[in-house]
Amino acid sequence: MDGLPDPARAEAPHQDIPRGVPLAVRRGQPTVWLNPHRAPTADGLPTRAVSLADVEAALARWRRFEPLLARLFDELETGRIDSPLRALSEPVARRVLGGAGGTVWVKADHELPVTGCIKARGGVYEVLVYAEALAREAGLLGPREGYARLAEPEARRVFGAHTVAVGSTGNLGFSVGVMARALGFRVEVHMSRDAKAWKKRRLREIGAEVVEHAGDYGSAVAAARTGFQGRPDAHFVDDEDSLDLFLGYATAAFDLRRQLAEAGVTVDRDHPLFVYLPCGVGGAPGGVTLGLKLLFGDAVRCIFVEPVAAPCMLVQLAAGLERTVSVYDVGLDNRTAADGLAVARASMLVARMVRGLIEAVATVSDDALHAWLRDLWHAAGLRLEPSAAAGFAAVRPFLTALPPPNPARATHVVWTTGGALLPEAEFQKALRGSAAEPAAE
Ligand SMILES: Cc1ncc(COP(=O)(O)O)c(C=O)c1O
Repeated sequence: MDGLPDPARAEAPHQDIPRGVPLAVRRGQPTVWLNPHRAPTADGLPTRAVSLADVEAALARWRRFEPLLARLFDELETGRIDSPLRALSEPVARRVLGGAGGTVWVKADHELPVTGCIKARGGVYEVLVYAEALAREAGLLGPREGYARLAEPEARRVFGAHTVAVGSTGNLGFSVGVMARALGFRVEVHMSRDAKAWKKRRLREIGAEVVEHAGDYGSAVAAARTGFQGRPDAHFVDDEDSLDLFLGYATAAFDLRRQLAEAGVTVDRDHPLFVYLPCGVGGAPGGVTLGLKLLFGDAVRCIFVEPVAAPCMLVQLAAGLERTVSVYDVGLDNRTAADGLAVARASMLVARMVRGLIEAVATVSDDALHAWLRDLWHAAGLRLEPSAAAGFAAVRPFLTALPPPNPARATHVVWTTGGALLPEAEFQKALRGSAAEPAAE
């Protein structure tokens, strides 16, 4: 199996291995880490940097842009970027739950229109924030002008004089790239050299410039951040440190609340909602978690899911340190087939926000990701990339680790975060359970 660290390296006596990171995690074994810092929502939320009013304002911005989005993208009739909530059939749900009670739903962000992945929620949103600011500055958004005007040549000329840059494992770059190119921006995406070749190809096809870096995803982000510092004609979308990205993700909570209500699903103390979220740098699952906590309080319990070789959020939270801690620091190698989750250092912004809010972090093996990817394709027709299957692999281990009583009347939502736009050959490779794609062609 790819993704497992060299055991000798994992057990090497590191000078300052942060205490608190369980040995099983350091050995690359699937683990459930129940978060000892979790606090009642009412205690956790008021000190956070994001309030319900901020998320509502972000939602209002999405709504303002709907006419423009509908004009730019044929598939967006209503201009709304949201995904279906799908019920899993009983036999599949039973396999996912492994004998525990409850129902299982899939929040199908792998089908999210335009980009086919959860990163659109943050990435598209941040481009809209930038475009809106530039358009206002240029006097293009007066009180009588609708947002559809931003597709006109005059606005494109303004945007065309600016660059949107981003460091990405692939999906954020694509989301930012698609949106920014559609508005006429120049786009630069910084990626690690071993990021998936097809993701780089796809970016070049939409007219983005792809800059490759020798190190991992974190070094690509750092290099781009430095390169774009202080440039008045550019905006750098900082995957590790952006409140706008976070807010874009957080608005997804409103979609899920509406869909659960439409499906007649009750969420309260006696009917808890468990949400399983694949975690890379942490922005997407962190934003969604904050949004859900603001709407459902203690009735919702969020579980982050990471590959055994790249549990950056687990390591950061378990270490309990103010400084950043990487998976390399605990002897892991960050090699996983789940390329969207191959992140060595968590966002500190997100780690601080979610520290008291999340229920647990579960780590899962690449073999488990592939097994669930196959199962969900054959049994439920879900076309997922490896990262997006992570949630399924975490449900049973999490429920087993959860202290009794078993929450029999629970609703489980597994967030599938990407995959619908995977090229057929890549999907077939993922179905075969191939190891991580080697370095770019
Ligand atoms: C498919 C997929 N799922 C989940 C994530 C995790 O998002 P984040 O890095 O914001 O934690 C990513 C990140 O790129 C992704 O591509």
